[in-house]
Amino acid sequence: MSFAENALAGKTALVTGGATGIGAAIVRKLGKLGARVAITSRKEDNLKAAVQGFAEEDGIEVIYRVGDVRDSDGIAAVISDIGSQLGGLDILVCNAAGNFICPTEDLSSNGWRTVIDIDLNGTFNCCQAALPFLKNAASGGRIISISSTHADSGWPTAAHAGAAKAGIQNLMKSLSAEWGKYGIRANWVSPGPIEGTEGVDRLIIAQGKAREVLNRIPLGTFGQGEDIANAVVFLAGETGAYVSGTELVVDGAARWGS
Ligand code: HXC
Repeated sequence: MSFAENALAGKTALVTGGATGIGAAIVRKLGKLGARVAITSRKEDNLKAAVQGFAEEDGIEVIYRVGDVRDSDGIAAVISDIGSQLGGLDILVCNAAGNFICPTEDLSSNGWRTVIDIDLNGTFNCCQAALPFLKNAASGGRIISISSTHADSGWPTAAHAGAAKAGIQNLMKSLSAEWGKYGIRANWVSPGPIEGTEGVDRLIIAQGKAREVLNRIPLGTFGQGEDIANAVVFLAGETGAYVSGTELVVDGAARWGS
């Protein structure tokens, strides 16, 4: 799928968790469409390798800062620094997430808290920290959070992540209402299973569930990172100008399959 060349020229973007998986696919797409992009995550090795890959394979310059979205003061400093470096921030993609499989009866309170802290509290921290920049975005700041279709269905053996993703969706609705007066649009993309991501590798393939899951997807394949990136671009660009407080599901109809 192609958008107009330079559809995002002159825009600046931050993708949290942008070094790997879906985040990296989003970075590639935003960068190729002309946005200046920054990434942040906890692991400097991943960030360095990703920035090198974006430059060599995609011809895009991406800057990085190490940061943990759970640390509200720390991530605020990182986002402030990135906003200064890029000369503003038009697009915030809240993609950083943590997850693991664990039956809820065995889940420790710290395990629960850790995932809620990364996914839900981390999203809040980033939105709050980016607000001064998003308010100044010339054609309206955009917040796009990466959620999951499991936010609606519940997520047996990943109840922590399901609850966090549901919380993120509700937060986006509140922000769309509160920050619309600043021209900010807040939406979320809900991916189904996306090939080549840690989520699918660890939570589906490593559990021996690939065939079972594929059989339940009406379109018959896992999604690609680029499918999610296309949805993000739609919401981030002029195409999404009057879209706020809502969901874009990209799952091959997996949630209706049986
Ligand atoms: C049970 C576990 C566990 C596991 C961690 N914990 N892994 N419990 N089963 N497999 C518990 C620990 O025992 C500890 O509780 C608490 O969680 C915190 O664990 P730490 O390892 O200390 O935390 P941390 O180092 O911050 O690691 C964060 C993490 C980790 C989320 C737990 O898995 C991680 O960093 N993952 C990498 C990022 C990631 O998960 N990406 C995939 C996202 S996929 P106690 O009580 O012992 O102190 C996604 C969508 C998937 O979100 C879509 C699929 C379809």
